[in-house]
Amino acid sequence: MMTPTTQLNKTEIVKLLSLDDFSSVYAEADEVRRKAVGDVVHLRAIIEFSNICKRQCIYCGLNRDNRQLQRFRMSPDKIVEVAAKAVAAGYRTIVLQSGEDDYFTAERLGNIVRDIKKLKVGDKLRMDEGDAPYITLSCGERNREELKSLREAGADRYLLKHETANTKLYESLHPCGTLENRLNCLKTIYDLGYETGSGFMIGLPGQTLEMIAEDLLLLKKLSCKMAGIGPFISNPKTMLARAPNGDPELARRAVAIARLLLPEANLPVTTSLSVLSGSMKNPFTGGANVIMKKVTPDEYKSAYEIYPADFARTDIEADRRNLEETIRSYGRQPL
Ligand code: 5AD
Repeated sequence: MMTPTTQLNKTEIVKLLSLDDFSSVYAEADEVRRKAVGDVVHLRAIIEFSNICKRQCIYCGLNRDNRQLQRFRMSPDKIVEVAAKAVAAGYRTIVLQSGEDDYFTAERLGNIVRDIKKLKVGDKLRMDEGDAPYITLSCGERNREELKSLREAGADRYLLKHETANTKLYESLHPCGTLENRLNCLKTIYDLGYETGSGFMIGLPGQTLEMIAEDLLLLKKLSCKMAGIGPFISNPKTMLARAPNGDPELARRAVAIARLLLPEANLPVTTSLSVLSGSMKNPFTGGANVIMKKVTPDEYKSAYEIYPADFARTDIEADRRNLEETIRSYGRQPL
């Protein structure tokens, strides 16, 4: 008998990633997705509330050594105001993302979380009308005490991508931290009862298929409920200005394998994958079931430049309606 796909090992994953024709794996991932999580596509509103960052990740435009970036920090009131608009437009999850910005202490961020939790998901058609929105934090590494107080403030989920599971590669990209700290932080996140989200990039300089297989297996080991997998995009304002972009097809393959390994997980079509995929017909084939939509105000949106990309102007209501319509046109159900 064949090994169940949830038990794929490293060698088997490498073999799948390097197939000439991957179409049967996409089909299987789609089937696993349908059986395990159905046809729903979850829409998340993401507020990128500060691009100030103390870290030096060499692939990321927000790294503290990038002097060519105009830095911003939204006020707590503004963040809650934008969250309220997103909730009114029908979003049930607010993702709060930022650089590692010390201004947003656990206390300040906790107050924002509490305020957003007072909002009510208002759409009459939704079963759980009157419930508070879910909150996902994506604000980098924090110590246990901070993570605990944020959890107590009401944060439901925490996204902290491991970026690469290979110690050497991790070190070459992060003069500011270690893989060990990253993984300890992810473990703490899990222990505190957050839904844990990790993820990684495809096409980092020096990355091999074996390393990608290890990234995928690590998601399982971390008991991830969410995993964001996206291609690396070279940012001309970073040390990796000359590195080639990651291969979006390889990223899609990795998402499909993540679906086989973690049938129940929430797997977004990452922004970087959308950026490099252009006008692909249906990005939700082959395993993905989540999309994050930027609700960041226009005045800040372009400064949240992790990598170069053109993002359309934000109209929270209209963007949401258009996205719902697009998802329905794929025969899937927006939520
Ligand atoms: N290309 C693609 N993704 C990137 N990220 C950071 N820099 C880049 C880049 N140059 C991703 C990381 C991070 C997330 C917020 O953005 O995975 O966790």
